[in-house]
Amino acid sequence: MEEIRLQKYLADAGIASRRKSEELINRGIVKVNGVIINHMGFKVKEGDIVEVNDSVLHIGSNKIYVMLNKPAGYVSTSKDQFSRKSVVDLVDVNERIYPVGRLDYDTSGLILLTNDGDFTYKMTHPKHEMKKVYIALIEGIPDEKQLTSFKNGLMIEDYITSPAKIRIINKYTNKAKVEIIIHEGKNRQVRKMCDAIGHPVLELKRVAIGDLSLGELKEGQWRHLTKEELEKLK
Ligand code: URA
Repeated sequence: MEEIRLQKYLADAGIASRRKSEELINRGIVKVNGVIINHMGFKVKEGDIVEVNDSVLHIGSNKIYVMLNKPAGYVSTSKDQFSRKSVVDLVDVNERIYPVGRLDYDTSGLILLTNDGDFTYKMTHPKHEMKKVYIALIEGIPDEKQLTSFKNGLMIEDYITSPAKIRIINKYTNKAKVEIIIHEGKNRQVRKMCDAIGHPVLELKRVAIGDLSLGELKEGQWRHLTKEELEKLK
């Protein structure tokens, strides 16, 4: 790890925002290698032991949990065979973090990134059936029968989808904006479900995972999850 400013280290570790981290340092509750550091500009290096309020944070072993509002046009893998831009490039932290699950290249919205493999495993494991909420712009306007078949389950390739929710938010000429809630995470599932009822997706955005919503986070922006948000997800 290259040397980084103490306040950035604390912020990256999810302790507080950069500004709040400066306040913690000014208050004299941050120690490095047992010595109180209460001025800005101090740099932390590999092997240093940082304490906040006597709780030790070991560099390199901090778990980081970030939410990003992914723009369309980014892959959600760390490496891409076509060298396309990755969501990982949008998040500026010192730790190596990875996306939790996938959003398609053309899909925008909420995606989590972390260096906690255990968390990723639990969040993406089918048995947890984590709720995911999408807003989709679809071609045409589905009728009641199509909406009901969407809710009851659809045959997609070799499986039948679990019960899902769909409701029309807005109708336009030959298009509709719908909210879709699913508890599964199969590859391109929402797109395939919309195809199956004859209303292909034109635009797709994920707005919530479990109780965690995008809120005011703008496209391309990210932030650390709060302790409360993390506890709820876990
Ligand atoms: N369903 C899709 O079809 N695409 C996504 O990116 C996410 C869910």
